[in-house]
Amino acid sequence: MLDWVPAPRLLLILFLTQSVGEAQRITQDALLMQYIERRINILEDRLAKCNQDMVKYVREFRDFKKEITVRVDNMNNYKTEFKNDVEDLGSRIERVERDIDYLETQQPSQPCVEMDEKLVEEQFKQAEEKKKAKLKMISDCDIMLTGIKSLKIVKKAGDDQGSWIKDPVKDSQRIYFLSGTDNNVLSEFANIRAFTDSAYLRSAQNTVLPYGWRGTGHTVYNGFLYFHKNDTGNEIIKYNLRNKTVSDRMLLQGAGRVPAYQLSPYTLIDLAADEQGLWAIHGDEDNGGIIVVTKIDHSSLAVEHSWDTACSNQGAEAAFMICGTLYVVYNHEHGGRSRIQCIYDVTDVVTTDDLPVLYFPKRYGKHSMIHYNHREHQLYSWDDGYQTIYKLITKKKLEH
Ligand SMILES: *[C@@H]1O[C@H](CO)[C@@H](O)[C@H](O)[C@H]1NC(C)=O
Ligand SMILES: *[C@@H]1O[C@H](CO)[C@@H](O)[C@H](O)[C@H]1NC(C)=O
Repeated sequence: MLDWVPAPRLLLILFLTQSVGEAQRITQDALLMQYIERRINILEDRLAKCNQDMVKYVREFRDFKKEITVRVDNMNNYKTEFKNDVEDLGSRIERVERDIDYLETQQPSQPCVEMDEKLVEEQFKQAEEKKKAKLKMISDCDIMLTGIKSLKIVKKAGDDQGSWIKDPVKDSQRIYFLSGTDNNVLSEFANIRAFTDSAYLRSAQNTVLPYGWRGTGHTVYNGFLYFHKNDTGNEIIKYNLRNKTVSDRMLLQGAGRVPAYQLSPYTLIDLAADEQGLWAIHGDEDNGGIIVVTKIDHSSLAVEHSWDTACSNQGAEAAFMICGTLYVVYNHEHGGRSRIQCIYDVTDVVTTDDLPVLYFPKRYGKHSMIHYNHREHQLYSWDDGYQTIYKLITKKKLEH
């Protein structure tokens, strides 16, 4: 169990108790030797399992080990210098450990078999957390999509790409309209009738946002607009729609370097909302084009958990979340019939195998955004400049 005591503290304890007596001190020195040996052995194990680029470090570390051994052998000859020496040793060991950790993170694709106990513990903790998150989510809601019942074309307005949203939490009929992939004017309509009216432009309340947005992945949740700030890779702004102020912001680690969906490359971060709250759907340069889903606490903007899904961004045009499950919509490059061909349930209850390919009703070409509204159980989408609504067929996840 000595492995779990951080080196400097352990060494200090050994030092403080060493004045008790000669016999005891010899035991302590032996313990210290064993301890250092064990630490070195663990480190060497890890090094041995890593790739050849680390040869330099291994050599350096062997020299270091020799030095330690000599020092420990001479330890009985030092009295006042003893403390400084052992503390120095402790910090040097930790430095080497840090270097090794750094090297390992720099080379994630190398088959480094990590046997470090700390790492095993970390993985165990993560698995536990995931299990807890899973249990919580299963109890929150339990539906899955089985079909798209109908399509309603609401309007044709704005650019070919854009986003239109209704708050799924607040009891409000308000429609938020954000045309284009690179703009800063938010239009609001009192309800869908005001929006579909031919004189809709006159009834729109326009707000110039403090920052431009990027892509079409914005969402409105409980009175706040969440959007990707235009001139940044991964900054998300939380904007209070009531008093028109920026209420918070966050950086989404790993996001912002590759598009979430290959066919909608303007969107790097697609924000989604479902029964369980706020999500970000995005890419990650390091994982070879797999879509990543991150759960965000909408009030604190803290990242709760992130999942590498089994869904590719190749051929994807949009995606949405229903009850903790990601549904990815694929299409042809030049537009065609959209279909859901990959799903990823963060609770692992359903998989793509449980769902046949789901086709959208045949119509226009390309969705630049699809958002699920869980209060209305329908999808809001922007399809080549048309604002459309899809009604859904769902069933309980556990019935599949
Ligand atoms: C970001 O948006 C602002 C406001 O719309 C605009 O002035 C600026 O040029 C945009 N920057 C980029 C990089 O698109
Ligand atoms: C906007 O509202 C939030 C929450 O109600 C409040 O904390 C903030 O101070 C308000 N900002 C302004 C400028 O009124």
